[in-house]
Amino acid sequence: MEWFKLFTIWWSLIIINSFELFYACPDPCTCNVTTNVIDCSNRGLSSIPAFRTIALSKIELLDLSCNNLTVLNSSDFNNILGFSVETIDVSLNRIVQIVGEFSDGNEAIGYRTLNLSNNALTFFPRNIVPNKHLKGDLIIDISNNFLEHLPAHMFADADSFYPGFQFSVRGNRLRSIHPNAFSGPIIVDAILDFRNNHLESIPETLKLPEGVRSIKMAGNPWKCDCNFRWIAGSLFQNYTKLSPPICNTPSGVSGRPLFGLTKSEFACAPEVDDNAPILETEGANHVLVCRRNFSYNRRCHR
Ligand SMILES: *[C@@H]1O[C@H](CO)[C@@H](O)[C@H](O)[C@H]1NC(C)=O
Ligand SMILES: *[C@@H]1O[C@H](CO)[C@@H](O)[C@H](O)[C@H]1NC(C)=O
Ligand SMILES: *[C@@H]1O[C@H](CO)[C@@H](O)[C@H](O)[C@H]1NC(C)=O
Ligand SMILES: *[C@@H]1O[C@H](CO)[C@@H](O)[C@H](O)[C@H]1NC(C)=O
Ligand SMILES: *[C@@H]1O[C@H](CO)[C@@H](O)[C@H](O)[C@H]1NC(C)=O
Ligand SMILES: *[C@@H]1O[C@H](CO)[C@@H](O)[C@H](O)[C@H]1NC(C)=O
Repeated sequence: MEWFKLFTIWWSLIIINSFELFYACPDPCTCNVTTNVIDCSNRGLSSIPAFRTIALSKIELLDLSCNNLTVLNSSDFNNILGFSVETIDVSLNRIVQIVGEFSDGNEAIGYRTLNLSNNALTFFPRNIVPNKHLKGDLIIDISNNFLEHLPAHMFADADSFYPGFQFSVRGNRLRSIHPNAFSGPIIVDAILDFRNNHLESIPETLKLPEGVRSIKMAGNPWKCDCNFRWIAGSLFQNYTKLSPPICNTPSGVSGRPLFGLTKSEFACAPEVDDNAPILETEGANHVLVCRRNFSYNRRCHR
């Protein structure tokens, strides 16, 4: 009977599919087809396991944390980035380099959350966000690495659109942020975490995402001198309420909340001009008192 034949074909398709599911789970990982989690954490891996064709419609979490990975090669993810991967977690490895471009080849990024925290990166890996128009939420956690600088245009070109955006660079060695670090994409709702770095200031020309909601700035040695005075009364005060910055230097304001200072308290030490001429009788003593003036960056001559 015709219907019976159909039933047989249908049944064998199910069997084939189940075998695919079974074999698709890369050794030595475990795959949960209920939660769509591929768990490859704590396996002592020094390379990414081979992902064959995976019969999951969606991957919630690809967990590669707590391994011994040093290089992340986007080619190793080719077979899975076509799926909608919610989170790729490669935290707690020893990653020093990322090669290739992370993309599914279409307009969507291959993942929503990329967790690179607790690795050994010294440069921001711009190739984690493909340089073409993307639309979707983006969460990058690159906390606890060794970054010293945030370069220009970290998050792709002007065509990109991130409705939700979280970027944590907490616990690095940041000394500087390029004014155009966040320039390019349209970012509707942004949370930036700069905590626990070596930042003394932020460039006045820093282009913040349009929809910035929160900037965490605590745990940096902020230098609240005249060069940083512009920040007083700026919108940074509104953005940093959850994690307000504390001044480290100059000594006169050390330990004080940055936004507790009046504009005139952002003062610089006077400059000394060794070559300025002064008329004085030969042999006479001449005392010049040079005080810090909170209102002006005074230039002293001697
Ligand atoms: C998959 O995850 C669910 C929910 O956490 C759990 O109940 C189930 O036992 C897991 N299955 C396997 C095979 O681990
Ligand atoms: C991690 O990999 C390095 C080589 O890259 C090797 O020397 C070391 O023994 C590995 N550690 C573990 C825990 O597998
Ligand atoms: C990345 O992986 C591809 C494909 O396996 C390989 O051809 C390429 O050499 C790898 N790149 C690096 C820098 O390891
Ligand atoms: C990234 O991984 C670290 C360490 O495993 C974890 O503490 C942190 O919450 C993760 N970040 C995100 C955004 O999930
Ligand atoms: C910033 O905060 C001040 C006082 O806390 C408030 O008056 C002002 O409206 C806020 N500005 C924005 C854009 O939220
Ligand atoms: C700082 O300089 C201004 C202008 O010369 C002067 O009016 C003010 O009194 C000075 N303040 C102090 C504390 O010396």
